[in-house]
Amino acid sequence: MSTLRANVLRMQPYVPGKPIEEVQRELGLSSVVKLASNENPLGPSPKAVAAVQEAAKRMHVYPDASGHAVKQKLAEKAGLDKCQVLLGNGSDELIHLLGLIHLEKGDEMVVADPTFVRYEAAAHLAEATLVKVPLDHSLTHDLVAMADAVTPRTKLVFVANPHNPTGTVVSKEAFDAFLDRIPETATVVLDEAYFEYGPQSPDGVEYVKAGRNVVVLRTFSKAYGLAGIRVGYGFADASVVDAVDRAREPFDVNALAQAAAVTALDDTEHLDRSRQVNTSGLARITRIMACHGFTAVPSFANFICVDIGRPAQPVFEALLRQGVVVRAGGPLGLPNYLRISVGTDAEIDRLEEALASAVSVTV
Ligand SMILES: Cc1ncc(COP(=O)(O)O)c(C=O)c1O
Repeated sequence: MSTLRANVLRMQPYVPGKPIEEVQRELGLSSVVKLASNENPLGPSPKAVAAVQEAAKRMHVYPDASGHAVKQKLAEKAGLDKCQVLLGNGSDELIHLLGLIHLEKGDEMVVADPTFVRYEAAAHLAEATLVKVPLDHSLTHDLVAMADAVTPRTKLVFVANPHNPTGTVVSKEAFDAFLDRIPETATVVLDEAYFEYGPQSPDGVEYVKAGRNVVVLRTFSKAYGLAGIRVGYGFADASVVDAVDRAREPFDVNALAQAAAVTALDDTEHLDRSRQVNTSGLARITRIMACHGFTAVPSFANFICVDIGRPAQPVFEALLRQGVVVRAGGPLGLPNYLRISVGTDAEIDRLEEALASAVSVTV
């Protein structure tokens, strides 16, 4: 007899974008371009790399369990108090912890369908009921339908803005109207992992400042280029931060990650360059797709969802064989779509070449 929890065994393991080394090994390719995990194609801030090298000299010492320096800087930037700042081992960990501190068996969690897959895991772990509300015709959160789906049993509602996997955003008016309909018994998590690619409106910080029942999540993994070292953060009422602090592991954000994050926050030059590369990359990928008659969903993030008008899996595989890794939409709930992360110019050149041949062999 297994001692493993049945609800855990029912969960789907997370399937990440294929790592470059794996694709090289499996397909015998020497050069692979990965446009699959919404990473920063410029890499990390060189200043953050230097800070990590320096911090590595003290890696025999436990990290600051309170994440003081990072939290302080984030609080100052946002105009909030340090006690309103969440820090986690990636925002993935914060999603997990928010589930842990809010959900009990039989509670409900409302999410869009499709949406970022880790929300689902938080519900399953708690044996909470996941209520999925389809995106609207423009692949945007249907906030009216999501508010309709909230019941007295709903504890959490997740809204990713910009949304992953579609890159779409909700308007401030729509979000305000939605929030006004959510009872105090439910907490709204506004996941702003791609916030820096904005300008974004709504800006989650304003709701925390106004004392609304909103938890904001952000990350250093995207525009700051620190996905591999794992730092996510957020803003919430001090009571939520306190609850997370009780539930989390004391040293969840390691010392190197804290050094990288605090330094990356000051490297505005790198952030600006990352934004510029993203804006021009989005425009270029949109143009390339249009040449093939494919429609790219207007994106406010660092990736773009493209409707190729037929099952996308064969095109995904044909790209993969040529060493260009994107995401097939099928596992993301969008079978006719490819999700493509923005790369450097050279990486987009590779995409353009590979797509021309992928499309011709798969028609
Ligand atoms: C909407 C959204 N939230 C959270 C995350 C997790 O980011 P992190 O690397 O901070 O765990 C991602 C990553 O792709 C995401 O797209």
